[in-house]
Amino acid sequence: MLTRVHTGLDPVPGVWWKPAHKAEKVWVSIAFGWCIVLFAMMPLWHWKGGQNPSGVRTRVDPKAYYARTTKFAAQYKVGEDRGLPIVAPPPGAEVYLVGLTFQWYPILQLQQGKEYMLHMSSLDVNHGFAVFDPSGTFVAQAQMVPGYDTTLRLTFTKPGKYVVRCFEYCGIGHAAMVGAFRVVGA
Ligand code: CUA
Repeated sequence: MLTRVHTGLDPVPGVWWKPAHKAEKVWVSIAFGWCIVLFAMMPLWHWKGGQNPSGVRTRVDPKAYYARTTKFAAQYKVGEDRGLPIVAPPPGAEVYLVGLTFQWYPILQLQQGKEYMLHMSSLDVNHGFAVFDPSGTFVAQAQMVPGYDTTLRLTFTKPGKYVVRCFEYCGIGHAAMVGAFRVVGA
């Protein structure tokens, strides 16, 4: 007959464990060391790597952001393409882009090799911002969330037409939501 039941709430009597084997200590040390290497790589890639800079994100009122963008467009407007203003801000300027169903406003005309602070937001629903260089190579992306201003520090290295596409399904006109940056040579 079973007289004593071990429930797991009581510790097992006696010494039942064995000290860690030398090999186990070595493997744990290697794994820990590798974790530290990967951890150090995060700031290192951010600092030395050639990828997208991590964006700055702040809260905005979507209507106020849209008003700011139209004001910016009026200030630096140099032309028009199918009803959309072509806007050429000076290098180093704060640049505004808004995604709305189903277009990107305005068309930005930027200078090659100059750095711009590109603010982006959405007026209505979530959009995805993806930009392709003149050879069609994907170069940068960001999420357009209404109520948030996502800012990327960008330098366009090739002259020509960069195409902006929406990559977040946003409604019936999603596939037609195409915009452009005109990058003029230095
Ligand atoms: Cu905007 Cu899809």
